[in-house]
Amino acid sequence: MLTFTPTGAALGSICTGLAGLTTATEADLEEIQAHLRSDLLVVLRGMNQSTITDFRDFARRFGELNQYYRPGQWNDPSAPEVLIFSNLPHYGNLAGSGPLDWHSNNSYCQRVAQYALLYGVRTPAPERGGATKFADLQAAYEALDSQVKELIDGLEVLRSVKKTIYKYSDLKEAAGDPIPSGIGPLVRQNERTGRRTLYDVGATVWVHILGMSVDDSERLRKQLFEHATQPRFRYDHRWQQGDLIIWDNVSTLHGRDGFDAAETRLCWELDIKDEVATVRPLHSEFGEKV
Ligand SMILES: [Fe+2]
Repeated sequence: MLTFTPTGAALGSICTGLAGLTTATEADLEEIQAHLRSDLLVVLRGMNQSTITDFRDFARRFGELNQYYRPGQWNDPSAPEVLIFSNLPHYGNLAGSGPLDWHSNNSYCQRVAQYALLYGVRTPAPERGGATKFADLQAAYEALDSQVKELIDGLEVLRSVKKTIYKYSDLKEAAGDPIPSGIGPLVRQNERTGRRTLYDVGATVWVHILGMSVDDSERLRKQLFEHATQPRFRYDHRWQQGDLIIWDNVSTLHGRDGFDAAETRLCWELDIKDEVATVRPLHSEFGEKV
């Protein structure tokens, strides 16, 4: 029997009682998904014995996997769909040990990630850093003044991976051809939760709001971002070995604190595609007027 205990923060619950990923029943999956709708995030605790193929096969039960860019050095041949986030040279040192800026996964893809899954194979002790931080964008939207809601409802944002590539020079080859860029909503409906939500107000792939200058749209983005990442909308996850986090990626932002570089951190990550396309592709140069 599964037990779900609220994290005590703004979102999320901790699920205990799941024996393992390979033995999860349809009823277990339904319960987990019900808690994703109400809590936006579920931590499956104690999944220590999972293999990378167990993780991939479990993730597939939530929907279609996003396969955008999986270069060889960031994966394992036994499950090349899984992106390996680690500070290990053997796995390409994708994320190093520094902080990772707030974002929502795949917000530049036509079908963004509806869920994301992250499994901690090896994570530093909490006092060594490396917490994964989450913010509830539904609650943040609902708490906005009605004038702000009126101003932002219906606005569209150009988001591009190219912005990330400029920032992290070691990701240059991640561009692919064409570089994914897309125009999507600033506020959207989350069909699973039935609620409206802000959507990816992080800076990582944000270029600008259509019809607004880069400076004006950045000012508005920052205002929304600072509002949404206040402690009252947050949950900071301090990892235990064997935690698997599943979150609703449409209605949340996430980021990571840096950690002691002497520590090893190894995580497996997968994104589940949204059922519908909410982003129009734009294969043009970064900064081009649209
Ligand atoms: Fe992410």
